[in-house]
Amino acid sequence: MVRHFLRDDDLSPEEQTRVLDLADAMKKDRFAARPLAGPQAVAILFDKPTLRTQTSFTVGVAELGGHPMVVDARLAQVGVRESIADTARVLGRQVAAVVWRTYGQDRIEEMAAHAGVPVVNALTDDFHPCQVLADLQTIREQKGRLAGLRLTYLGDGANNMAHSYLLGGAVAGMHVRIGTPDAYQPHPGILDRAAAIARETGGSVAVLHDPRKALEGTDVVATDTWVSMGREDEADDRSAPFVPYAVTEDAMAHAAPDAIVLHCLPAYRGKEIAASVIDGPRSVVWDEAENRLHAQKALLTFLLDPSGGRRR
Ligand code: CP
Repeated sequence: MVRHFLRDDDLSPEEQTRVLDLADAMKKDRFAARPLAGPQAVAILFDKPTLRTQTSFTVGVAELGGHPMVVDARLAQVGVRESIADTARVLGRQVAAVVWRTYGQDRIEEMAAHAGVPVVNALTDDFHPCQVLADLQTIREQKGRLAGLRLTYLGDGANNMAHSYLLGGAVAGMHVRIGTPDAYQPHPGILDRAAAIARETGGSVAVLHDPRKALEGTDVVATDTWVSMGREDEADDRSAPFVPYAVTEDAMAHAAPDAIVLHCLPAYRGKEIAASVIDGPRSVVWDEAENRLHAQKALLTFLLDPSGGRRR
């Protein structure tokens, strides 16, 4: 069966740990594993802007011995010039995997249904699972574990990062709190799914509207831009409700004294996060950005051979 990574709960708790262990090993020895030797190509498509994701997948595929083929989305016009299904069938005959940043989750599900090779979600409107995989690697590096830790995300509770923290954190057995205004609740179906996973893993999920309560004693503070990709024209309207949820020095006083700070970047200093926090001693955002490379290399290696060579 071809495995995909379309949302965070596509990895079981055991598989998530395996991928994170592999990511740590790959970070220590970047050029040891070459599962894409040939070189086999990986198609990498972006319907939205990117820096980190394009860089980390391009470098990562090359380091795995493969050929990163970044397809110009303006030329490919997936779903416009030809259907997603036909695009998937063509790519799947020639490449080892497909990495796609796009809009609706239904689009990447359609790609996965027809590609015949692993498809990786490089961000959709609903999820950013590769980012959260890198975040989990970063938290584990800093804290030595994931299960039982408290993670607080402040900002837009209905965006892809909030959804991925809920699912990915629940899979890891973490206590995930989303601090968000009442009008920006996570999708109820995703919240229910995260709660069900957390019941199995010993974690928990909660949505709180008081940012101070959401931060109380937390081990990890995470935030994201208040203006998601493609909604830049709404920036002024959207910012006001989130001001009380900014990660400032005052806000950090409510977290655990040794709490670390994550931001998936790009960051807007003075908006969702204070410059003194993101550039301060508790920030691990540059490790987090680097770990996109290691986590995604490990993920691709897992998806290309989920059995880890055991069936050979
Ligand atoms: N965090 C993240 O996905 O960065 P890019 O949008 O630059 O790829």
